[in-house]
Amino acid sequence: MTQILNLTINGTSQDIPIDDPRATLLDVLRERIGLTGTKKGCDRGQCGACTVLIDGRRINSCLALALSYDGAEITTVEGLAQGELLHPVQAAFIEADGFQCGYCTPGQIMSAVALIAEGEAGLDPERVREGMSGNLCRCAAYAGITEAVLKATR
Ligand code: FES
Repeated sequence: MTQILNLTINGTSQDIPIDDPRATLLDVLRERIGLTGTKKGCDRGQCGACTVLIDGRRINSCLALALSYDGAEITTVEGLAQGELLHPVQAAFIEADGFQCGYCTPGQIMSAVALIAEGEAGLDPERVREGMSGNLCRCAAYAGITEAVLKATR
């Protein structure tokens, strides 16, 4: 039975017909909406590549049953920049070389946006590493990632 899922994605409300109640938010975003900035890494909640914000809180979208989030506001990496103007966290990742291959970068950035928004005043490298520990980088660009998050808080 087809159900209609309403999501506000990056500020735009959309009604999305869902045939499979097991559809994950990750698959809906990538395959139904075409927002492929959100990456599929492990597909089992271990890598953080699929991190998006739901009502401002970060989640692994590969573990989220899409229909459970009817009416929610979703922010993906595509929703951060204002036209040509990058979000401060995006700009900081570039300035600090917070990536190598870039596959994990959208998830890293979404996680960093949430970590900073959680009101972590006075983030230091250790707290950044702990706060970002759910996002893995197979290139091990962690020094740059930590510097980028710190830079974005300044
Ligand atoms: Fe979701 Fe790895 S793809 S945590």
